[in-house]
Amino acid sequence: MPAMAGRIPQAFIDELIARSDIVELVGGRVQLQKAGREWKACCPFHAEKTPSFWVSPAKQFYHCFGCGAHGTALGFLMEYDKLSFPEAVEELAGRLGLELPRDDAGGAPRARAGDDLYELLAQVTQFYRDALRESARALDYLAARGLDTGTRVTFAIGYAPAGWDAVLRRFGGNAERERRLLEAGLVVERSGQGESGCYDRFRDRIMFPIRDARGRVLGFGGRVIDQGEPKYLNSPESALFHKGRELYGLFEARQALRQLDRLLVVEGYMDVARLAQAGIRYAVAMLGTATTAEHLHRLFRITSEVVFCFDGDRAGRAAAWRALENSLEHARDGRQLRFLFLPEGEDPDSLVGREGAGAFEQRLAGAMPLSEFLVTQLAGQADLASIDGRARLAELARPLIARVPEGVYRELLLERLAQEVRMPVVRLAELLAARTAAATSGARAPARPQQRSTAGRQPLLTQAILLVLHHPAAARALGEVPEVAAIDARGGEVLAKLLAMARAEPELTTAQIVERWRERPEGARLAELAAEESLVPDPEAAGRELVTAIARLRAESGPDRRLDELIRLSRDRQLTSEELLEFQQLLANRGVSPEASAAR
Ligand code: UTP
Ligand code: MN
Repeated sequence: MPAMAGRIPQAFIDELIARSDIVELVGGRVQLQKAGREWKACCPFHAEKTPSFWVSPAKQFYHCFGCGAHGTALGFLMEYDKLSFPEAVEELAGRLGLELPRDDAGGAPRARAGDDLYELLAQVTQFYRDALRESARALDYLAARGLDTGTRVTFAIGYAPAGWDAVLRRFGGNAERERRLLEAGLVVERSGQGESGCYDRFRDRIMFPIRDARGRVLGFGGRVIDQGEPKYLNSPESALFHKGRELYGLFEARQALRQLDRLLVVEGYMDVARLAQAGIRYAVAMLGTATTAEHLHRLFRITSEVVFCFDGDRAGRAAAWRALENSLEHARDGRQLRFLFLPEGEDPDSLVGREGAGAFEQRLAGAMPLSEFLVTQLAGQADLASIDGRARLAELARPLIARVPEGVYRELLLERLAQEVRMPVVRLAELLAARTAAATSGARAPARPQQRSTAGRQPLLTQAILLVLHHPAAARALGEVPEVAAIDARGGEVLAKLLAMARAEPELTTAQIVERWRERPEGARLAELAAEESLVPDPEAAGRELVTAIARLRAESGPDRRLDELIRLSRDRQLTSEELLEFQQLLANRGVSPEASAAR
């Protein structure tokens, strides 16, 4: 297939998506069955016996509820036929008999948005690696931690030199270059009176590059050598880097193992590296944040077994519980979710160093299933000897179990709980169902019960984005494009753009919107949202919900947004005294205004 020269104009991709029919395209390769307004099949991207792969003609989108695969007609060609993006465009154009336009006035393909930041981050990674080889102190430290050269290379570990401007001197030089360093989070702006300019964020630290699924460096975690605060300094959020999404070590794990049967989630960078060195090459870590629903989503797109590994102390248990709460909706048949609690004072790094990989894997084999953790943890809060206590346990479990999708997994969980409260399963199920139905009566029943939508639990901003994405025509219900960009740094901007786009072109399909975002950093997230089932059936209903959602969003942003911003800032630098004062005032106001905090 000839390579395409130049960039493909967006208008042409729009046209391709508008003219092609995803049902016909997929149907040519996969045996589809009609199911209501949609089509279904056994998923071509993972092995299964009952269909969980759906194609929506309205959205022009496909989605597998089993493995999470999703996309547009172009995405399908890329995944199924293993084509590159330009190849998929060429293939689709060929099917429709359309001539490929070429926008190659400038010759070379134009760089994608963000490309230059990736490039900069890659260069800085190399700079840190070179610096490590020059620093006896850093090398000694790593040797003392037991990391060998191979592991250092695998994880591209480096060293940020001491001093204030090693990176700045090498990669700055003019205002434009400094701006890019700032954008990448590599330098910090001086904030004191009468001072100006920037200085290196990472100084005299061991540097762990954080890479995305494609191996591109997005940011760093930097550890002090020996003692100092903070122990780990992380890159701030940037256009490319979102801590709630990325997993440290995922790229390296996928490089090491063709198939990831299991992923182990640990707490630290050092744990991931040390485990890999010991031969356990399937560990990943959060980036100093709690486990998010998005993390879970990512993990289960790649594997069917996730083991969370936490400290056995109170903090570890609390973190594990948060992970459990976020995991419930991902618990379904064919998946395993387990929890491993380590002896107090140990982490995987120390344990694997002392016991070796074999003993550690034995611990893994004995990890506690999610159902067990849930039941024992709740049982600890109720006196099971009394009937009241057992009723309380059922009550505590109810909202949690309601979040588990229906299926064998949920049945097992019920069985386990029934055993604990000494009640027949049917009776318990009835009890839980009666309450759940009462709690949600009035809400629309999902069209396909086994594919419960998560719409009710989404943050408001996500709900608004979902509504426009699934029903672009709904944006017409708004009198004008409201000022929503400021609501949230990332989502607000996306929502504003979506609204503007959908109002200007109400005929757009979900797939066309997703394709317009393909090359932007938020594109992947938007495609995931597009794949979600929409609970709102038609554009009119969606329009009404959208108006309400936006009104609430605007009412709720305001002071809390500033609070969040200050909290975020305080993680990256010390707040100025004015900021501190503002912070305290905001908190105080929040305390005396019960509606404002209740609304959150
Ligand atoms: P730990 O404090 O458990 O450190 O933090 P560790 O991974 O065992 O590191 P070593 O063995 O002392 O070198 C676990 C994770 O929490 C985040 C980092 O992602 C770290 O890997 N963290 C910790 C921070 O982001 N900042 C900190 O100051 C400390
Ligand atoms: Mn450690």
